[in-house]
Amino acid sequence: MPGEQPRPGRRVVKLNTNENPYPPSPRVLEALAGALNASLRLYPDPDAHGLRTRAAAVYGVPADHILAGNGSDECLALLVRAIVDAGDRVAFPVPTYSFYETLVAAQAGTAVRVPWPGDFALPSELAAARARLTFLCNPNSPSGTLVPNAVIEDLARRLEGVLVVDEAYVDFARESALPLVARHPNVVVLRTFSKSFSLAGLRIGLAFGHPELLAGLRTVKDSYNLDRLALAAAEAALEDLDHMRANVARVRVTRTRLARALTDLGFAVLPSEANFVLARRAGTDLGPLARALSSRDVLVRHFPTPELRDGLRITVGTDEEIDILLAALREL
Ligand SMILES: Cc1ncc(COP(=O)(O)O)c(C=O)c1O
Repeated sequence: MPGEQPRPGRRVVKLNTNENPYPPSPRVLEALAGALNASLRLYPDPDAHGLRTRAAAVYGVPADHILAGNGSDECLALLVRAIVDAGDRVAFPVPTYSFYETLVAAQAGTAVRVPWPGDFALPSELAAARARLTFLCNPNSPSGTLVPNAVIEDLARRLEGVLVVDEAYVDFARESALPLVARHPNVVVLRTFSKSFSLAGLRIGLAFGHPELLAGLRTVKDSYNLDRLALAAAEAALEDLDHMRANVARVRVTRTRLARALTDLGFAVLPSEANFVLARRAGTDLGPLARALSSRDVLVRHFPTPELRDGLRITVGTDEEIDILLAALREL
């Protein structure tokens, strides 16, 4: 989902769309340079065999349980298009990633919004929502909180429909639900290269799920959904996990420092397992503060909804960027 874009020609501290502040692996840049040749006249592999084979080795999931998407947003869109007919119920805890709502509306589905409690523990009403499709963003955006695997597995057992665990931010968290895919044919786990792998600009996502379920997604997928450059980059990124993990480790250290500093500034900060934090001042509309930061070229995310208007979602940037943000907050 698009956020406020920086003005050209100005140094902007961009902490509003959860991009990685560190560059992708040099191996990715080499692979991209190597792919810039006459073979660009050829269509890309519609089934992303090379990428799926590499992902199978990295994640310990058979290649026939993997589908590559043009960003995990495309995987989400394919799921909704393949599974949801007009009037079908689609459940998700709210607040969460707003694109679920957009997709369900486009398909004329019925959104069943189950409010998260204050501590963001999984609401039991989710299992009872009788939905054809259930989304769980884990870690959740914008809260950054994580539902433990044991709780997700219990939900998967109780649901009749498909459970999609959107793990866009999971590399920054302590555990992943990926092992559930082998045990539960109704579970799909989504990953993206946009966050931990620093490749938001190339649009690469993966869906892990039962081959029959993925076959349904292929029927509604554009043939050539990932271009040759994205495929080359994704394979190379999976060959240099150390680079990604080092960047993740740096982000986590800065996340701890940011959360402490925001707490000292009087914000309530939920424990985050993602590359952003939600900082709140209960009962205060933080829209004016977000706009004041923006006028100083510091972009953070404010959601003008009743349940979120007292919060700012702040991406964990470099230490220097976080220092600029904190200095601006101290002045405002
Ligand atoms: C929870 C969540 N899921 C999916 C996405 C989309 O990621 P991608 O860039 O892979 O389309 C985002 C992007 O911000 C996100 O926050």
